[in-house]
Amino acid sequence: MKKFLKWLGIAVLAILLVLVIAVLVLVNKTNGMAKKTYDVNLPKFAAANDSAALVRGAVIANSLCGGCHGGDFAGTEFFKDDATGSIPAPNITSGGRTKNYTDADWLRIIRYGVKPDKHGAMIMPSKEMGTMSNEDIAALVGYLKTIPASNKTWPDPEFTLLSKVLAGAGLFGDLYHAEIIDLQDATTKTAPEPGPTVAYGAYTVGFHGCKSCHGDNLNGKKHRTQFLLLVQILLKVVISESGRWNNLKIHYAPEQHLKAKQWM
Ligand code: HEC
Ligand code: HEC
Repeated sequence: MKKFLKWLGIAVLAILLVLVIAVLVLVNKTNGMAKKTYDVNLPKFAAANDSAALVRGAVIANSLCGGCHGGDFAGTEFFKDDATGSIPAPNITSGGRTKNYTDADWLRIIRYGVKPDKHGAMIMPSKEMGTMSNEDIAALVGYLKTIPASNKTWPDPEFTLLSKVLAGAGLFGDLYHAEIIDLQDATTKTAPEPGPTVAYGAYTVGFHGCKSCHGDNLNGKKHRTQFLLLVQILLKVVISESGRWNNLKIHYAPEQHLKAKQWM
């Protein structure tokens, strides 16, 4: 009996040790992603400022960026949860973090998902947004520069230990799009002739990222958040800290659609 208990103790300790090592490895991976820097081969780029471009830019900004960064582009809470942390979508008016942005800085973040300090931007769906034509990005940036300044500030993203483990295990999907974009591709992208054509529709669907949620054939896809919610429910049962799990907010899809409808 004593021998059995001894071996049981050793087994439990061994499992705990493996768990601690797994947590350390995953946390280290997430911290490493945040620290990583990226060099981008930027094409020549200048924002547009003629009136037709500004109208086009307003349509794109409202349907594409406003869902996360807010209707006034002064930022939103975007994601906030006691258990997993917070990822605000910051103020991108000329009073915010983008105050000193050059045209090149705008292109780098929109098309490649990389900030001026060379760090990857979290969550920003640049893999999809980056399929926009150079002309459309020029119109978008031209418009963004005309938005009234707001001095609203937001805290830096904050991950809890739990979310660092989940992110390290890949459960948040592609957290940094800089990882999955060809940062050396400096080709000039063009769009099909605007109009009610299949080609132009496919272009629009492409840069709006509809497929990243609705699947490659737009016939639906199980979103990863369902799996995340399952993990959270399981954890809730295990540690029964009810209440802490009830205030999960994910803002993206509904707002994106409200905005999209407005412009469709
Ligand atoms: C799915 C939500 C989402 C969408 C859509 C989105 N963003 Fe962001 N954006 C974020 C988040 C979250 C951050 C914070 C990233 C970080 O700090 O790592 C961010 C950061 C930024 C930054 C600040 C980078 C810095 O210097 O700190 C800029 C500029 C920006 N976004 C511009 C845009 C523009 C322009 C669009 C539309 C073309 C857009 N974003 C669409 C979520 C989004
Ligand atoms: C961030 C993920 C996401 C993106 C990006 C996204 N959707 Fe959705 N979409 C959803 C979710 C989730 C629902 C279900 C919402 C609900 O039932 O409340 C939905 C619902 C819809 C519906 C309604 C379906 C019904 O049951 O009536 C349509 C239409 C739609 N999306 C079209 C689009 C189009 C077009 C785009 C691109 C411009 C797009 N979506 C981009 C997540 C997304």
